[in-house]
Amino acid sequence: MKTVRHLLTTNDISAGEVRELFKMTKQMKKKPALFRNKLGGKTMGLIFEKPSTRTWISFQAGMAQLGGSAIYLGPEDIHLGRREAIKDVARVLSRYLDVMVYRTFAHNRVEEFAEYSNVPVINGLSDFSHPCQALTDFFTIEEKIGGLKNLKLAYVGDANNVFLSLLALSVKMGIMFSYATPEEFAPDEKNIRQKRELARQTGAKIEGSFQPEEAVKNADVVYTDVWISMGQEEGAVEKRKQFMNFQVSMPLLKKAKPNVLFMHCLPARRGEEVTDEVLESKHSIVFDQAENRMHVQKALLLKLLGK
Ligand code: CP
Ligand code: NVA
Repeated sequence: MKTVRHLLTTNDISAGEVRELFKMTKQMKKKPALFRNKLGGKTMGLIFEKPSTRTWISFQAGMAQLGGSAIYLGPEDIHLGRREAIKDVARVLSRYLDVMVYRTFAHNRVEEFAEYSNVPVINGLSDFSHPCQALTDFFTIEEKIGGLKNLKLAYVGDANNVFLSLLALSVKMGIMFSYATPEEFAPDEKNIRQKRELARQTGAKIEGSFQPEEAVKNADVVYTDVWISMGQEEGAVEKRKQFMNFQVSMPLLKKAKPNVLFMHCLPARRGEEVTDEVLESKHSIVFDQAENRMHVQKALLLKLLGK
């Protein structure tokens, strides 16, 4: 049986491969014309059970730029698991497509899908992981700062899929990851313990607290994401109250390094996790970050499709 390479979490890629991917992304971003037909005749499936702007369009446009094509299937199209078992759809689509991007709710759905797929599956976001986002974020930081050495990345907000992916990639790449969440929404302790053990081997550091000011102190990058993720709207009113002191505002950003970069995976809820002023400030690199989704994913597609 042929082994198929998937990207379900950042665990599926080594630190060396991340560096290679970034090198390739840099080349492709600089000279896109050189890669124009690399995936000619290939077709990508985009299976989305949640809405998307960046992930959908950056993958579809990126595939077109590489000479391939893409088919989008939205939440109303195939009713994965309801109209037909996940394992059946995965096997059928594998016969038509060369690569699939799947955005879903519970992470075990994308795991099951990948298990039965004979072509590479890329997780386009699950409740547990958003690997393309974290890879892009690190590429963007490297592009802006020149490297990842001695970097302090501070995350303020909900310990969600984006948080978990940034944490895991920080550990892999050996940087300092400091975070602040409300006490009730702190990340799983077992996960943090495991990551701290791994960090000992990679030189990474993890600092967690319930104090945003503490987390951002001396940070090179301050990152946040929505308090209420897609599909987690239940109890949102109460949850928002608990996050009131975790908004990234100008006074909070001032506690980081003077030239701190502000990042957000987007979409942002202006006035909730971040103020308008921060998003529009000279510190904010959110649109370069969004653009880079496409460049990084183009390199990823070439890598997964063996070109
Ligand atoms: N950041 C991100 O994944 O955005 P979308 O939900 O718009 O794809
Ligand atoms: N944490 C957010 C990220 C959106 C890109 C969500 O899952 O809705």
